[in-house]
Amino acid sequence: MIEDNGIALMRQFILSNKKEIDLALDLTLGKGEDSKFIFDQNPKAHVIAFDIQEKALNLAQEKLKDTDCFQGILDGHENLDKYVKEPVDLCMMNLGYLPGGNKEIITKAKTTCQALEKALKLLKEEGLCTILAYRSHPGAKEEVEAVEDFLKALDQREFIVQRVEFYNQIHEPPIFFGIQKRKKK
Ligand SMILES: C[S@@+](CC[C@H](N)C(=O)[O-])C[C@H]1O[C@@H](n2cnc3c(N)ncnc32)[C@H](O)[C@@H]1O
Repeated sequence: MIEDNGIALMRQFILSNKKEIDLALDLTLGKGEDSKFIFDQNPKAHVIAFDIQEKALNLAQEKLKDTDCFQGILDGHENLDKYVKEPVDLCMMNLGYLPGGNKEIITKAKTTCQALEKALKLLKEEGLCTILAYRSHPGAKEEVEAVEDFLKALDQREFIVQRVEFYNQIHEPPIFFGIQKRKKK
């Protein structure tokens, strides 16, 4: 069967396009599910993760307590360049609000695009970036449009950008964007 939800699409994209991950950025840590997925697949990976909510950091740190290669940072992803200087294999953004948390604390168009711009500069050749963009909460449409405009403007000689959605699903399912930085010829 092909996948029928955004998280599964994201995971499939990572599994089929990247065999080894040394360093990943989880730009929206939340409960740490995405970081945990990276460690489950790549036990030797390092993950640097950002969230603006202490609650998210605590939940994720508890989930990831068995690894010492996880660094959770209580700061906005738009400031990632203060903390990360080295090339990365993967960056993940799972936009919106913390599931089960305050629905008013959401990722925002401007800072999401700032973070994307900074993260793509750090991507290694053949590195991946995944974005899962939810559409139904207030503010989401503006964010999705900004992300689409940003991605559409990326040079096709430098990045491959895929956009996948579940066209016949009700309730505005998330859109998945999968990006790969091309190898220089
Ligand atoms: C959809 S949740 C992420 C789900 C998460 N990846 C997981 O595996 O559980 C989005 C998260 O982004 C966080 N967030 C909002 N604005 C942010 C920002 N500027 N920088 C980093 N995280 C932010 C929210 O606090 C929320 O926890």
